[in-house]
This record gives sequence, structure tokens and C-alpha cells, in this order.
Amino acid sequence: MKRNLLTLLSVVVVSAAGMASAQSVTYTLCAACHGPDGKGIGAGTPTAMAPPLAGSVIATHGDGELLASIIFTGIAKEDAKYLGVMAPLGAMAKDEELAEIISFVRKSFGNEAPPVDAEKVKGWREKYNGKPMQRRADIEAAVKKTE
Ligand code: HEC
Repeated sequence: MKRNLLTLLSVVVVSAAGMASAQSVTYTLCAACHGPDGKGIGAGTPTAMAPPLAGSVIATHGDGELLASIIFTGIAKEDAKYLGVMAPLGAMAKDEELAEIISFVRKSFGNEAPPVDAEKVKGWREKYNGKPMQRRADIEAAVKKTE
């Protein structure tokens, strides 16, 4: 039984990675939690991994700086709403790759926001990499302020 479950899990993980790579080379970094379709694995259920990126006002906000800052700092875990944790992931990808991921998220899953380039990401890396995890309330306040 345990073995079957493991097999099933690996099939899910491998196919999720495969689907994501057809869409974008590096969105796989996010797909494990946010889903290959951007809807968030298990979103809306008690075992949700992460919120959807589809229709996310945070992901599509402004010129992409807010989304980039979240990738660099992560989000402090303050409740048990999701099984996953939005960890700082920026160090795992080069500027070009992050620009690709950010641009991809902002124009996929029904989202329609302008892309970002590697030069911008370079500046945001200097500004946010290694900074403390952001609080959810501060992120929401940043969205409201400029809406
Ligand atoms: C290990 C799981 C995991 C991975 C991998 C992950 N995230 Fe997250 N992400 C989360 C969780 C959990 C939250 C919700 C955090 C909270 O509010 O407490 C979140 C929140 C977010 C949000 C805020 C969305 C909203 O509208 O509330 C954005 C944007 C985001 N992630 C982008 C990304 C991107 C881009 C990647 C890939 C570079 C990524 N995440 C990878 C788990 C993950």
C-alpha cells in the first residue's frame, strides 16, 4: 500500500514537472506547490499546498517588483492555511531564469501583466535577496496602496 502511494506520488510529481516544462523551462520551481496550471495544488481544500497564481493580484501587481520580492524573501508562515511554505527561492535561479519565470507567471493562467527583464531582476536581487521573510499583511497593504 505504502509502495503504491509512493509510486502514485512520483507519477504525479514527474507529470507535473513534465507539463510545466512544456510551458516554461523553469516554472517547475513553482509548480510543485502552485500547480502546473497555476491553480495551486489542492487550493480550496483542507490540504491546499499553496494559493493559486491564476488571478493573483499580487503576481500581476505593478511592474513585477512585488512578485520578485516574494521570490527573494518568501512569506513568513503565520497560520496553517497551506501545507506548503513560500520559502525564499531566488538564489536557486539566475537573473535570466527568474525574469522568465516572473514573465511567464504574469502572462499565463489568464493573467495579463507586462513581462520583466533580467536587468530588472538583477536590481531586485540586490534589493531583496537575504532580507527577512515578508509578512502577508505587508504584502496585501502594498497591493492596496497602489491599486
Ligand atoms: C514549497 C511550496 C511553494 C513553492 C515551491 C512556491 N510557493 Fe509560492 N507560495 C507558497 C505558499 C504556501 C504561499 C502562501 C503563503 C502565505 O500567504 O502564507 C505562496 C504564496 C505565493 C504568492 C502570493 C500569491 C497570492 O496571491 O496570495 C506568490 C505570488 C507566489 N507564492 C509565487 C511563487 C513563485 C513565482 C514560485 C516559484 C518561483 C513559488 N511561489 C514557489 C508555496 C510555494
